[in-house]
Amino acid sequence: MADQTAFPTFPAGFVWGAATASYQIEGAADEGGRGRSVWDTFAHTPGRTKDGETGDVACDHYHRYPEDIALMADLGLDAYRFSIAWTRIQPDGTDAPNADGIAFYDRLTDALLERGIAPHATLFHWDLPQALEDAGGWLNRDTTERFAEYAGHVHAALGDRVARWITLNEPFVHTVYGYALGVHAPGKALLGGAFPVAHHQLLGHGLAVRALRDAGAAEIGITQNMAPTWPASDGADDRTAAARLDAIQNGTYSDPVLLGRYPDHLESLYPGGDLSVIRDGDLDIISAPIDFLGVNYYAPNQVRAASAENPMGFDLVPIKDVEYTGFNWPIVPSAFTELLLALRAKYGDALPPVYITENGAAFTDEPDADDRVTDDRRIAYLDSHLRAVHAAIEAGVDIRGYFCWSLLDNFEWAEGYSQRFGLVRVDFDSLRRTPKASYDWYRDVIARTGR
Ligand code: FCB
Repeated sequence: MADQTAFPTFPAGFVWGAATASYQIEGAADEGGRGRSVWDTFAHTPGRTKDGETGDVACDHYHRYPEDIALMADLGLDAYRFSIAWTRIQPDGTDAPNADGIAFYDRLTDALLERGIAPHATLFHWDLPQALEDAGGWLNRDTTERFAEYAGHVHAALGDRVARWITLNEPFVHTVYGYALGVHAPGKALLGGAFPVAHHQLLGHGLAVRALRDAGAAEIGITQNMAPTWPASDGADDRTAAARLDAIQNGTYSDPVLLGRYPDHLESLYPGGDLSVIRDGDLDIISAPIDFLGVNYYAPNQVRAASAENPMGFDLVPIKDVEYTGFNWPIVPSAFTELLLALRAKYGDALPPVYITENGAAFTDEPDADDRVTDDRRIAYLDSHLRAVHAAIEAGVDIRGYFCWSLLDNFEWAEGYSQRFGLVRVDFDSLRRTPKASYDWYRDVIARTGR
């Protein structure tokens, strides 16, 4: 059940949004001159995704975007966060801009603006052109320059209409899942040897900030996936393990951007990682001022000291006495407030305004005989997490907006279509959209507190 006490009032001008990403919703994999990305390759490799699902069709948003924008407008959204598929703009990551690809985002952007919805564009949400991966991907320093060039092309096309730019989505998840553990594309299992991927994404971010700034972009930021990391006990070993995961997940990706330095003892965090990729001057580029920090929050971590056979230095431990989402993620809204307060305490004046660029929950609620999806657990999750954001605002953290993940049920990476995060149900056979009860709930929240 959602909290019955009065829903808090958010500050005037607070931005109410929803988020998606290109490979998760667009489909139309072979249309408009689109090239192949690492996610096309990965999803088409047997055994990589649940039931061999791919994003070939996904939500078919490429064709159905007018219907999706109508859903956004009825919801009352101020803003929509979407990502650009690099392979629609540059099919092999280096070539001249592809007019058909640009035309799609041009249409999308105009259609959003016609409905009064501010476009928020993410430049990289994990779908690297396969041609760049073949040349080493983010292990190759050259990719950083290619990324900045691509950012320039996108800005040249859309820069007059995009309100906020997000360079990278969750470089931590891309590094760890994609290159350290191999459970996401491109499927490499390098463990600590994945460190260059972290550094090169951050350098790519810095070079893209420079390119966007030089081109006169509106606001520029980066989106990080952050989580408070709790020790399973007060013991020194468990506390050391928690500090280690905190440095790996949070510090590695935000300290360079906001403070111009990496966490201490970097070599011990990334055994086998080549730290010589950090060249003189890189951290100056990475720490170029940004206008906002995008924070994605889903759940906290709890860890204890690692068992002998675990090279990571910590073992994840389930959090007890809390409910879990359908994805088996613990539901702890107070940890969201804790995270936001900790960010301010750690970074102080170096913390720019914050936008919550993703937050949401997966549940497999099915439609009833009347085609209603009564997703009360999603409503309770969103309600409690918005209250947690509000508590952080009350405590003085400058948080300017909230983007629910996600507008639509979509392709949840290695989980295929089995994890549904949408405010709108998508039937993946007919592609029919059905707003869930949470959609109505979010519309009421926006109408009541957002104007
Ligand atoms: C985040 C991703 C997003 C989605 C949610 C559930 O890590 O940025 O694409 O998969 O998790």
